Amino acid sequence: MIRNFLIGIFIFSLNSMTFAQEEKYTMPELKYKFDALEPHIDAKTMEIHYSKHHKAYLDNLNKSGGNTILGATAAGLEDLMFAVDGKNASIRNNGGGHYNHSLFWDILSPTPQKMADGKLEVAIKNQFVSQDSLIKLMNAEGLKRFGSGWVWLVVTPFKTLTIISTPNQDNPIMDLDDVKRGIPVLGIDVWEHAYYLNYQNKRGEYLKNIWNVVDWAQVGKNYEAALQSPLLKKIEKSNWKSFKEFNQLYSQITLPAKAGDYKLIKEKSDELLTKAEMLEKSNIPGSFQNTDIKSVLKELTSVIKDLHKSASKKPKDAKIQANLLKVEEVYKKVLEIVSK
Ligand SMILES: [Fe+2]
Repeated sequence: MIRNFLIGIFIFSLNSMTFAQEEKYTMPELKYKFDALEPHIDAKTMEIHYSKHHKAYLDNLNKSGGNTILGATAAGLEDLMFAVDGKNASIRNNGGGHYNHSLFWDILSPTPQKMADGKLEVAIKNQFVSQDSLIKLMNAEGLKRFGSGWVWLVVTPFKTLTIISTPNQDNPIMDLDDVKRGIPVLGIDVWEHAYYLNYQNKRGEYLKNIWNVVDWAQVGKNYEAALQSPLLKKIEKSNWKSFKEFNQLYSQITLPAKAGDYKLIKEKSDELLTKAEMLEKSNIPGSFQNTDIKSVLKELTSVIKDLHKSASKKPKDAKIQANLLKVEEVYKKVLEIVSK
């Protein structure tokens, strides 16, 4: 029996070790050799950019624990980017560095498809008239970026395309104050390390030439994947400020109440009611608009009014608890609609 127990511990340790190894983010394999993009991007730049700069972001991301938060998979990395806000400096810089460069290598090719086709071609023509004018706008954004950063073609939660630029290793998936959020389908690195050996300070020349190796077939694949991605809905929900604010306060005051502590509910039920009223009056994002949502939000305000009454005038815990259960029931209906 002791022998079986020891074998069990050994297998468990082995599994844990394997699991820990799998949890590390790894470098994406390049689909081409370092010299394959010449003369537009020289071999030395490619080698240093991939093996030193990108590798350093990756190593620092793994060291900073970014690999253990949501699992070191591609979907985990997207979720990690989605969760980044201004407070997570290490994950923001190193996770961003890993995500951004992985996308960058993927849209470059020594034998690129030069023009977009299919749904992406239609979207570009509808919004930018032509691929040429889209490229001109992206180059202008890239030139305007002061210091280091990226220029992106992004699918927005409204399923339109937009061009944005971000500083450092930020990207459009992150929850940052002045960033229009969406899913990037094409990103151009405008850090000096991406072009300095060949182009020195001439960022404009680099931007003009890089389009010779951008593979629009891959950008088209990214575009179609972004349109279907559940991440787009998550960003849309996250952009719904009134919902986000209500949800934050609701979680903050109801979690202690579930453990029998009603202090916060008594203190903040009026604030919760204000947030519920604001949510009811807010502009509901397109994906969540259906015949039920408005009536459910109205019902939510009504049950929170009852909760507020019981929590503010001669409060009795049993009454608060009963009203809180009613609020929970209605809020569940809201979450069901916005999670579909
Ligand atoms: Fe870079």
